[in-house]
Amino acid sequence: MKVLLSQETIQARIAEMGRQITTEYAGREPHLVGVLKGAFPFLTDLSRAIELPLTLDFIAVSSYGAATKTSGEVRLIKDLDQGLDGRDLLVVEDIVDTGLTLNYLMNLLKARGPRSLKVATLLSKPSRRLVQVEVDYVGFTIEDHFVVGYGLDFNEKFRNLKEIMVYGGA
Ligand code: IMP
Ligand code: MG
Repeated sequence: MKVLLSQETIQARIAEMGRQITTEYAGREPHLVGVLKGAFPFLTDLSRAIELPLTLDFIAVSSYGAATKTSGEVRLIKDLDQGLDGRDLLVVEDIVDTGLTLNYLMNLLKARGPRSLKVATLLSKPSRRLVQVEVDYVGFTIEDHFVVGYGLDFNEKFRNLKEIMVYGGA
């Protein structure tokens, strides 16, 4: 497997994103919602790069279909613990690929009455979009590679890698 984004590159970009979010949310308390499982390292590092009081919650979704195929169906696996009414919600995603997962999540979460709703994703593969979704903060725009590491998996493996690699077996 080949390194696409090194640990240093990822961490430097997250520091920048944290500074931008800190500036843009000044005076407010963002409520970060991490999308399990892939977003766990990004949520950890991004939340620590934001110098504001904030709260965290988690949601888990899964798209049907195995391995590197993304099907259209999205299933809610674990709902949020807390309500969203009046909160400044920031959804934190690992990757936006077809956009189907994010589209599903946005519809679900919008209906719960947050005061504002923005999205931060570490990676975006715009060439793969099937539905148009608005993403406010993008770490890296990448080509159509299947990537693993830093939360991203192939068959649940490689999530613990510190860097993002192009998966060779796909
Ligand atoms: P969507 O196609 O935008 O709905 O993305 C659905 C999910 O597919 C993402 O949250 C990831 O879990 C997974 N996914 C998409 N592209 C990749 C990839 O390159 N590597 C690992 N997982 C991916
Ligand atoms: Mg996945």
